[in-house]
Amino acid sequence: MNHLPFSEKELAGATLACITGDPFRVPAMAKEIDPHASEISHTREFAVYRATLQNKPLIIASHGIGGPSLAILVEELAMAGIKDLLRVGTSGAIQPFIEKGDVVISAGAVRLEGVTPFYAPLAYPALSHPNWILKLQNAADQLKIRFHTGITASTDSFYPGQQRTDTKTQYIIPPWDQAMSMWRQLQVLNYEMESSTLFVLGSVMSLKVGCITSVIVEREQGETFESTSQEGVSPAWLVAKKALSLWLNDSENK
Ligand code: URA
Repeated sequence: MNHLPFSEKELAGATLACITGDPFRVPAMAKEIDPHASEISHTREFAVYRATLQNKPLIIASHGIGGPSLAILVEELAMAGIKDLLRVGTSGAIQPFIEKGDVVISAGAVRLEGVTPFYAPLAYPALSHPNWILKLQNAADQLKIRFHTGITASTDSFYPGQQRTDTKTQYIIPPWDQAMSMWRQLQVLNYEMESSTLFVLGSVMSLKVGCITSVIVEREQGETFESTSQEGVSPAWLVAKKALSLWLNDSENK
């Protein structure tokens, strides 16, 4: 039973994948890495490209929005031989010291979603692999891009789950109507929607997983929400590209 109509052979022995939410971002990302990159498949929210970086095969793929579709992608890539995954996306900052254009390297995530309890009890942590944290920090340092490393709140709900009131009812049930100040007090850095699913699946499947996001909204400054387009994700993508090279150069990851 597969949602992604590719065979292991089409991945050409790739063990590394870079994943992002938007399928329309995938071709440009893949071609930036390798002008000869080619599409393997595109069904629903899942675009899958194969590229070559430093003479090694690399998969660039999209996971759609939220944990359920990300889990399908990760399951099916892992069954086809992928062992290391880096998610590149966007997030909203909830700490006043984080600005638009900064990047957040998620070291761990608060599991505010419904997929991972099917894999592990809620007491089980959602953690990035430490090698990705180091590679991403090193890459951001080299590129002089401001970064923050810490805990991300990963929610299934973009609106009430991230305490947004620009909705049909404008009503948020307790305790979520007060959640943002609690997460801020607990030193959580940002909101996004996929890292905890990636992290828990990574640990239970022995995959090395990491997550970097570009900050596109400062929630301290109100509800203004900027584009989630190519431009939105770009500082994280610049760091991710360098981190993917560092990853492939590291003999520990072979
Ligand atoms: N993605 C999210 O989930 N939340 C934001 O605020 C921005 C991007």
